[in-house]
Amino acid sequence: MNHFHYTNGEMYCENVPLKKIADEVGTPFYVYSAAAFRKHFEDFDASFKKVPHIICFAVKANSNLAVLNLLGKLGCGADIVSGGELYRALKAGIDSKKIVYAGVGKTEEEIEFALKSDILMFNIESLQELEKINVVAKRLNKKARIALRVNPNVDPKTHPYISTGLKKNKFGIPVEKAYHEYEYAASLSNIEVVGAHCHIGSQLTDVSPFVDATKIMVELVKNLKDKGIEIKYLDLGGGLGIKYKDETPPSPKEYADKLIDVIKEVDVTLVFEPGRVIAGNAGVLVTKVLYTKDTELKSFKIVDAAMNDLMRPTLYGSYHEIKPVKEGNYKNVYGDIVGPICETGDFLAKDRDIPDFQQGDLVAVMSAGAYGFTMSSNYNSRPRVPEILVNKNKYYIVRRRETYDDLIGPEYIPEDL
Ligand code: LLP
Repeated sequence: MNHFHYTNGEMYCENVPLKKIADEVGTPFYVYSAAAFRKHFEDFDASFKKVPHIICFAVKANSNLAVLNLLGKLGCGADIVSGGELYRALKAGIDSKKIVYAGVGKTEEEIEFALKSDILMFNIESLQELEKINVVAKRLNKKARIALRVNPNVDPKTHPYISTGLKKNKFGIPVEKAYHEYEYAASLSNIEVVGAHCHIGSQLTDVSPFVDATKIMVELVKNLKDKGIEIKYLDLGGGLGIKYKDETPPSPKEYADKLIDVIKEVDVTLVFEPGRVIAGNAGVLVTKVLYTKDTELKSFKIVDAAMNDLMRPTLYGSYHEIKPVKEGNYKNVYGDIVGPICETGDFLAKDRDIPDFQQGDLVAVMSAGAYGFTMSSNYNSRPRVPEILVNKNKYYIVRRRETYDDLIGPEYIPEDL
């Protein structure tokens, strides 16, 4: 996380001290580095420069408008999974011709919105969805460009909640059935078959499952060609992992080189849907120690951010490095970093060595740029925290802190109860 560094004992994001943001905006807050987003996108993009490709950032990882706008300006498209994400991507200025739409439960309204927006393609997850899209396209007098999302039955060797390419998962169409379903798709009046898609999981730290899945997809593309079905776009999804602790994921270049080797035999434009590898290490969550409490068993550091602000530790047992914003001679203690929520599952770090923070200290929860803010909620009626984007020596509040009025805004008390 080069864009988050210590200078004179203070943690900075690019050229802005995090303490300055904390003083001016309050805590907790998410802070993102524009330079990190640019670098991660450009590294990924450059790794595939030898082959035609489109990069569609997975909006679910970080859907802030300013972030999407920044990526869009670099030529990035969007991988979306809902009408809301489509709305955001378009508002942020992302080119609709670089938007791909996955998800097992697209509603009729969402399909209509996407057709009217003229997106690049729908990644279709079931026969019934295919038929629904055909009907909606017919009603609108349009042709829907589609890919079938194929489930290649490859084990991504990651957390079970974010494994998506196994037979037992709800995603995609089994590869054995795909041939038949492609023929059916090609026969529908308002469907244009343009692509093939797979996404086997997230936070993969080994390249071999990607290679295995790609081989299956290349075979599929070749066989479809023999049947007269031309695949223009081969969408290999996202999933490339990042370093949270001591993982050693392949670099985008290693990943790209391996895949380019496999796809040599087919003439396609590759589509990628990276989320975490672009956003994860481009952001941190900054929180403040409210209280400390030592028990017989361990030390609790009670901070002002909680599981509603960053769900990953409690939901997946995932590890985020914890660092002091002001470097000090902290000794380590054994314990937990916990939030104010009334649940034992409310922790940001658990049963591990942590710096012996004191009341008032600022704490940086690292690698929180992906699936951090986007998974946050208002649980315990906690207003959602602001998102800050740093660009060189300037910072912008790209989402303000929610107010109590924001919390109750959509609610209504019936008068005649
Ligand atoms: N494409 C599709 C169809 C996906 O379902 C996903 C992620 C991606 C692309 C992006 O994957 P990435 O490059 O970010 O690994 N909330 C979890 C991660 C859920 C991922 C869901 N799908 C977490 O915090 O780890």
